[in-house]
Amino acid sequence: MSAKDYMNKKSTAERIAALMEEMTIEEKIGQLHQMGPSIVGGFNLSLEDMVGMMLDGRISKEEFDEMMANSHEDFYEDEIRAGRIGAYLGTFGAEKLNAAQKVAVEESRLGIPLLFGYDTIHGHRTIFPIPLGEACTWNPQLWQESARIAATEASATGVQWVFAPMVDIARDARWGRVSESAGEDTFLTSTYAKAKVKGFQGDSLKNKDSVLACPKHFVAYGGCEAGRDYNTVDISMQTLHEVYLPPFEAAVSAGAEVIMPAFNDVSGVPCTANSYLLRDVLREQFGFEGFTVSDANAVVELINHGVAADRKDAARVALSAGICMDMGTKCYQDYIAELIQEGSLTMQELDEAVERILQVKFDKGLFDEPFITDAQREKTDLLRPEFRAKAREIAAKSIVLLKNENQLLPLRKDAKIAVVGALADSRPDMIGAWAMSGRNEDCVTAIAGIRAAAPQVTYAPCCGTDGDFNREETDTAIAEAEIIVAVVGELADHSGEASSRADITLPGKQQAFVDYLLASGKPVVCVLMNGRPLAIPSIAEKVPAILDIWQLGIEGGNALADVLFGAVNPSGKLTTSFPAFTGQCPHYYNEPTTGRPGGSFKFTSRYLDAPLKSVFPFGHGLSYTTFAYSDLAAVVEKGQVKVSVTVTNTGSREGTETVQVYFRDVVASRIRPKKSLKGFRQITLAPGERRCVTITVPVAELGYYDNRMEYIVEPGTFRVMAGTSSEEYLETEICL
Ligand code: NOJ
Repeated sequence: MSAKDYMNKKSTAERIAALMEEMTIEEKIGQLHQMGPSIVGGFNLSLEDMVGMMLDGRISKEEFDEMMANSHEDFYEDEIRAGRIGAYLGTFGAEKLNAAQKVAVEESRLGIPLLFGYDTIHGHRTIFPIPLGEACTWNPQLWQESARIAATEASATGVQWVFAPMVDIARDARWGRVSESAGEDTFLTSTYAKAKVKGFQGDSLKNKDSVLACPKHFVAYGGCEAGRDYNTVDISMQTLHEVYLPPFEAAVSAGAEVIMPAFNDVSGVPCTANSYLLRDVLREQFGFEGFTVSDANAVVELINHGVAADRKDAARVALSAGICMDMGTKCYQDYIAELIQEGSLTMQELDEAVERILQVKFDKGLFDEPFITDAQREKTDLLRPEFRAKAREIAAKSIVLLKNENQLLPLRKDAKIAVVGALADSRPDMIGAWAMSGRNEDCVTAIAGIRAAAPQVTYAPCCGTDGDFNREETDTAIAEAEIIVAVVGELADHSGEASSRADITLPGKQQAFVDYLLASGKPVVCVLMNGRPLAIPSIAEKVPAILDIWQLGIEGGNALADVLFGAVNPSGKLTTSFPAFTGQCPHYYNEPTTGRPGGSFKFTSRYLDAPLKSVFPFGHGLSYTTFAYSDLAAVVEKGQVKVSVTVTNTGSREGTETVQVYFRDVVASRIRPKKSLKGFRQITLAPGERRCVTITVPVAELGYYDNRMEYIVEPGTFRVMAGTSSEEYLETEICL
């Protein structure tokens, strides 16, 4: 009898049972341990050890940097051979991952394959727009396609599991991770979650070019107080279940088998220690059968949260709450055996985590085919021309035309155009903050793309995101130009993890720079590069044409040129609302009703010094053509509300419009949002063409959790709105 006989069993369930019989407690704990391969020369510490040491103050940032400079990759082969490691994170490359896998499957006693996870967030080598930008396409087909390409590339480099999609609801633009999200709306994010899971996982998880998706961060991370990353989250159960949880449920229903809980607490209980969320909601309510992986270092951070006494206690708290895999802290590896021996954890708690991880490894097909790639595939499957073409298409469709007075855009290629702004020439800032496996050299900057389309365009950096602007350079640029294109905004590092801002205006002197350009009297086009909604009321008011291009990925410059010169008619729509001032955050379209709705009267819910309306609302985005809405009708039939509306292209060129449907429960037993998106549909119309669009919304989706946390759909009147944004629509009513 060999230890690997479990593979002779027929069904996966039998194989897992036989394997569990065979495993020692140490081998079981090994499956729960995920680590990174970087070690610090001479110290034998992992990257995770070091981050942990820096976080709890044992080493300074300077010491951390110095140690990092001496780090190299090492897979701890002896540990793999001993079955003490179940998964790796943060590394890719066919040759090295295959070599580590070979040790696991051929040299460890039980031959259990390793799982390799990686932060493939908005592309692997072919980098697409940041999620907040890509969400603005409002196109589930494209969301799925970019995930499919990312999966093809990631898997070609040996990665079988990506830490995406991020499906947090982001209502507070101060929070840096807004950039990684699909925005502020639950319905849109749920649709996005499904498309991404399908794209990453492909037709079958067992395919070599499929990767496991890992929706994150479970849950309500975006609700951090004051928009400060990692900060506490205090929300009602109703908000938790109505706003933050549905995208995760959608992802699970689409087949996601791994979930990453968030760093934060929810109303006092850290997600890493939250058995209500991890067991009652995720497993019982959603029927999730996969495994959970803590976020990096989150297990040890339970000590800082104040819910665990020490590393050993942290292991106990996390495993018993339902965290199956420990990302990086070694707390599980060091203490689970001891905790079981002394009776603080049960063998059953360990087994259930191990079985879930093994199940996912079987589902991914790794026991039959542990090597998912080779050097050849790594050569042919990265950055294929068709991938770049898709990146360009998606980038162009992510661009949002925020304003276009007197049809200043598109520009004529032979116009005398001066492009200004240092961001126009920055590759890393076009790529975005979460493109770890992307390469700067692949990226087409804004100016490179514009020049490829119109070679005579002049360029001068003039102004960056810090320091003053260069007046001489600016004067020269203005003097020579008929039209000025100012590329302004944020660095990629201004958003993303640990990048919250307490002031979401344009950084540095960029506002003064734009004012200076405007003072010249020449027409100015603002191209915004940003990872969050910005507070730019004066730009919105005074600049005649504004394009929001986010961080568009490697084809960004070409996509910008496509829109700027009119080869592509813009169709992007915002998925986050732009406030006038930072002080309005959190700011989102579907806020609940109040007893004193804001108006011009003093004693209403409003600010003395800020408008109530968004500067650019959720769902807003213009086109080079125009659309008119008419004939809205809504009927209730067999548990569905059928909303139909006619859209006419009233302009002179073909264009794509996203029809949005919002509902409001007019009288309910609990206060309800002023409106909630419940459906959308994208159509392309030739000039003069008109089409009736029908969007069907199940009545069951019009309910809410009552005061006793029971989900109810209350009879009564509902307002139905259909239109071009959350602020511009036709409305009618239905009665349930
Ligand atoms: C921390 C981040 O919160 C998470 O999104 C990421 O996937 C992990 N680190 C792994 O890098």
